[in-house]
Amino acid sequence: MSTYLDHNASTPLDERVLDQMMPYLRAHHGNPSSVYRQGRIARQAIDAARQQVAQLVNAHPSQVVFTSGGTEANNLALKGAVVAPRCVAVSAVEHASVLASAQQLAIEACQLVRIEVDKDGLITEETMSRALASAPERVSIMLANNETGVIQDIARWAEMVASSGALFHTDAVQAAGKMGVDFAALGVQMLSLSSHKLYGPKGVGALVLDKRMELAAQMVGGGQEAGYRCGTENVAAIVGFGKAAELAGLELQSRCSHMLALKQMLLQALSKVESVVVFADQAECLPNTVFLAVPGIDGETLLMEMDRSGVAVSSGSACDSQKRGASQTLLAMGIDETLARCAVRVSFGKDNTEQDIDVFMSAMVRQIKALQENSMLVWA
Ligand SMILES: Cc1ncc(COP(=O)(O)O)c(C=O)c1O
Repeated sequence: MSTYLDHNASTPLDERVLDQMMPYLRAHHGNPSSVYRQGRIARQAIDAARQQVAQLVNAHPSQVVFTSGGTEANNLALKGAVVAPRCVAVSAVEHASVLASAQQLAIEACQLVRIEVDKDGLITEETMSRALASAPERVSIMLANNETGVIQDIARWAEMVASSGALFHTDAVQAAGKMGVDFAALGVQMLSLSSHKLYGPKGVGALVLDKRMELAAQMVGGGQEAGYRCGTENVAAIVGFGKAAELAGLELQSRCSHMLALKQMLLQALSKVESVVVFADQAECLPNTVFLAVPGIDGETLLMEMDRSGVAVSSGSACDSQKRGASQTLLAMGIDETLARCAVRVSFGKDNTEQDIDVFMSAMVRQIKALQENSMLVWA
């Protein structure tokens, strides 16, 4: 029996989502661009999914562009400019797909401005003003951080960005399904989503956009997705994403209160363990995320030992797991690198139970003790 506590990396596919997808894997093989019956069935399924995804974030269906996931949506948002930008600003705690997109632009003579965060992982009026002073044409700030769960005040920053005349993108991949996300109220021009973070299939996501802005496709071809993202649509995955989005909307309140109760239980239990540090505990955070460290115990080592006990947690962003360095998010918050290397992320899902917290806590306490006894401390 394993205990899965890494939902920010990916979530299990909801059975109800799988049921919805199956006919599009088995029977309905038509190309949605075909005009005959099989094609129309696929097209209608995509249209329905577009509506479901739009509804989750209070957008119009025509604003939803399906992509191959959050990474592609972020690439499109940052790089999809008709005229190459002279300057872009991204927060210091963005996901690798935003940071790398911005860095790619920087190779092409675009100035890259980093919006710093404070010790709680939050952007401030001062860091925002400093970044806007460089007159960026595109700004990207994530709604909720994948490692700390810290939620940024996007609506507030959107006003500042709007008065500077720049376009504003937010990566809402971790936020959707764990808090209310309202595209219209946030005041951004682009918003990224990913299906596999909300119990949908992997390899599908969306960029929600203000159609008044111009966006250049990164994937050109047959004109699918209104020309913003060409390529034959992954119909079954899009259907699954739609169903997952619908369920996330319908069950948002119950999921959030359930996960928050688990989080409070975990924080309470952690407060009894000597020297445990919980990062960003002063900021508003997602209800499912706890980023912690046991000083002196390497996060990677602890998570490997936890894995042996059947508990899946992570030492930070799964997408950055090839790079074994300290969490860039923690470093940006001014956390000492030695402590940042001890970080372990716990992220709950809708189906976790109180028992999972008990299993996690006893495994962690046991492993900490064993590591300390075996002197496997990386830093004494
Ligand atoms: C904040 C954030 N943005 C983007 C992504 C990338 O999404 P995808 O895995 O769908 O490419 C992730 C995935 O971990 C993420 O956490």
